[in-house]
Amino acid sequence: MSKVTYLSGDDSTIVDVDAGTSLMAAAVANSIEGIFGECGGNAMCATCHVFVEEGPHSALPPTSEAEDEMLDCTAAPRRTNSRLSCQIPMVPELDGLVLRIAEEQL
Ligand code: FES
Repeated sequence: MSKVTYLSGDDSTIVDVDAGTSLMAAAVANSIEGIFGECGGNAMCATCHVFVEEGPHSALPPTSEAEDEMLDCTAAPRRTNSRLSCQIPMVPELDGLVLRIAEEQL
């Protein structure tokens, strides 16, 4: 099990995430404010948008075409470190990742 930190406003929550679990599903299961996952993880809603703040960026999976298109529809303006957390399945190499939820989603 690996740890991911979710930053929501001034709150910081460290969550243990099983390998294979998406970072959206882990957030929803732990009631992380601002992550909704309305489409169930199908890259169709952008309610799981996060900014990757710190950690092993090189271990992140590449952004798919569907994710890339949906990142243009986020509530907060897209940044270079924007990702859809539903498109990131946990792998041990991502241990220590820090994700921020945009103020617009809170
Ligand atoms: Fe809908 Fe990620 S849960 S895009």
